[in-house]
Amino acid sequence: MSTYGKFQRVSTKTLNLMKRDGIKISALTAYDFITAKLLDEAGIDLILVGDSLGNVFQGNETTLPVTMDEMIYHTKAVSKGVSRAMLIVDLPFMSYQLGADEAFRNAGRILKETPAGGVKLEGGKRVAESIMKITDAGIPVMGHLGLTPQSIHKFGSYKQRGTEEDEAAEIIEDAKILEQAGAFSIVLEKIPAKLAKTITESISIPTIGIGAGHFCDGQILVTPDMLGLNKEFHPRFVRYYANLADVLHDSFKKYIEDVRNSDFPSDNESY
Ligand code: KIV
Repeated sequence: MSTYGKFQRVSTKTLNLMKRDGIKISALTAYDFITAKLLDEAGIDLILVGDSLGNVFQGNETTLPVTMDEMIYHTKAVSKGVSRAMLIVDLPFMSYQLGADEAFRNAGRILKETPAGGVKLEGGKRVAESIMKITDAGIPVMGHLGLTPQSIHKFGSYKQRGTEEDEAAEIIEDAKILEQAGAFSIVLEKIPAKLAKTITESISIPTIGIGAGHFCDGQILVTPDMLGLNKEFHPRFVRYYANLADVLHDSFKKYIEDVRNSDFPSDNESY
């Protein structure tokens, strides 16, 4: 069986070897048991319990309302479906912005209360001290640069980042700082492909892109988006791998019709 074989548990080491050997890393989000089980069985390398659950699960405009308790609740459910993939959990807004001690306490809480293998947090230089403190305790940390949705009110939009020279240089610098601080990988969200390529080639840890082109060491998408569950949300970087919104809509319509017409349940479906 190869190092990246189907049944070996994925670790930070596996992801590093994949970067070294030029094997692309696949990642998707999950918020519930059944999706996580299907992703794991399909052979996904990394599952993120993203705070995007604030949008796609809770129906909020932003990820800001998501709490630590909610992240832990979803991670417990997801973890029951995962036996191979690396399981990473987002630290939600205000669980690490107060400083390194608070970040450390909350990262520790996730590892203590769930079977997750690490945490993710957003930002560059400003979170370096927190990353150092968390990784010193043996907790793997994933960084997140470019479009950072927890800072939506600072930026005012979900537009592409790093298009100006100054901002691009800052993102490159931040990526190096995160690597130095001990991050095992960095998500690069919605930045030009060329910038993602420069970053990917400048650091030894894997980059995982979302709207950041194909030069990254791996790719992540928000699962309900790539399944076509939300037809109102179709940014250019999301590829639909299914059209579940229509499949579900048609199924619900058919069920309602069958109940109305007394076609369901049949004798065979009754006791
Ligand atoms: O919360 C999330 O799902 C994420 C991904 C977009 C990377 O951070």
